[in-house]
Amino acid sequence: MKSLNDTVKLNNGIAMPGFGLGVWKVKDGEEVIHSVLSALRAGYKMIDTAAIYRNEGGVGEALRRSGVHRDDVFITTKVWNADQGYESTLAAFETSTKKLGIETVDLYLIHWPKAGKYKETWKAMEKLYKDGRVRAIGVCNFHKHHLEDLLQDAEIKPAVDQIELHPLLTQVPLRNYCYKQAIAIEAYSPLGSGGLINHPTLNEIGKKYGKTSAQVMLRWDVENEIITIPRSTQEAHIISNADIFDFALSPEDIDKIDALNADQRFGADPDHFDF
Ligand SMILES: NC(=O)c1ccc[n+]([C@@H]2O[C@H](COP(=O)([O-])OP(=O)(O)OC[C@H]3O[C@@H](n4cnc5c(N)ncnc54)[C@H](OP(=O)(O)O)[C@@H]3O)[C@@H](O)[C@H]2O)c1
Repeated sequence: MKSLNDTVKLNNGIAMPGFGLGVWKVKDGEEVIHSVLSALRAGYKMIDTAAIYRNEGGVGEALRRSGVHRDDVFITTKVWNADQGYESTLAAFETSTKKLGIETVDLYLIHWPKAGKYKETWKAMEKLYKDGRVRAIGVCNFHKHHLEDLLQDAEIKPAVDQIELHPLLTQVPLRNYCYKQAIAIEAYSPLGSGGLINHPTLNEIGKKYGKTSAQVMLRWDVENEIITIPRSTQEAHIISNADIFDFALSPEDIDKIDALNADQRFGADPDHFDF
């Protein structure tokens, strides 16, 4: 990736922007509208929302207000756990598209690997894909064993696995597995949900390049060919987070960041979640 306009080719040939805005915890209405409009003005080409974020309405409103052509922005949303199952996923998809005010979703994801349900959900995702309602389908929070299980019955391979990934959770084994399977990795909580902004090593590396710790983390994603979706509600942060295409981390600094891995999560472990 050399700029915000660059894309990653998914396993079905669809071009997905490698960098986007996440909107978890961003309030529906003016707050999310402001975040999305700021991102689109700054040149972002992708927005990551979910039914459970309860802000798809505001995301859709911002898309309309922005005047950006629908084809120039990539929209991801997700089916929530309570809606998993065949018919309920199809219904949840209709609700999401109505709220977003769009006909077609660029990427539709299963939010969590709900035991006993995700295979049925996947069948509905495959139908939406075959019907042309979604341009790509994928999963979130799937460990290798969840993917292996899904792939036993899947007709269509997931295009993306969106997982928690940042310098304290580098996910190397899962990245290697997905690389072999041609499943693109997308990093969520790329800034550790904000918890890594004051990390001393990342700040120290940033100083060398005149960059912030956030820019170092996001540049590290880009250099590792990991799709990334930092969240912010502040226009200044939204702009600066994307200002990462004018420097390159040295191999030594990449090694230093890789070495921070502690398999530490800020969110739930997909093997132990109860929602
Ligand atoms: N699939 C899943 O299960 C899942 C789970 C979690 C997240 N996600 C997705 O991934 C996205 C990103 O993850 P995340 O929301 O957990 O958090 P994140 O992007 O890792 O971090 C966001 C936090 O960092 C702060 N921040 C951002 N840029 C900053 C900067 N330049 N300087 C200082 N602080 C900065 C933000 O505060 P300010 O607003 O003040 O800038 C916010 O508190 C989510 O929004 C969502 O779309 C998906």
